[in-house]
Amino acid sequence: MFFRKKINWHKVFDSIDAINAQVAVGRVTTINVERKKICLARTADGFFAVNDKCPHNGASLGNGYCTAEGSVVCPVHRYHFDLRTGRAKSGLGDFVQTYPIEVRDDGVYIGFEQLVWNWLKK
Ligand code: FES
Repeated sequence: MFFRKKINWHKVFDSIDAINAQVAVGRVTTINVERKKICLARTADGFFAVNDKCPHNGASLGNGYCTAEGSVVCPVHRYHFDLRTGRAKSGLGDFVQTYPIEVRDDGVYIGFEQLVWNWLKK
């Protein structure tokens, strides 16, 4: 295989208390990370991050809301996107990019996947 996936982690909050204060359960918001707009959502199952731009017509998903079933709902045409997979509900072909989130001792991180050449690494 010529490429392998690498995750670049970016610190977005200094502590779990800071992210808890920013996003209540059932809410979403938009944060900027490395020139990307990210929709940060919080459900009863935890925090999720997806690309902020709705694939249907470009609205900010961070202005929407999330459901108890684990979807973010676009504020414009109310399309639902699964926060774990990024797939649109109701048989639509659209999807949003999802990003992993890690809570560490020194803060909360979001990961951006990158493809890198594999031939020099073992
Ligand atoms: S712009 Fe998001 S559903 Fe239409």
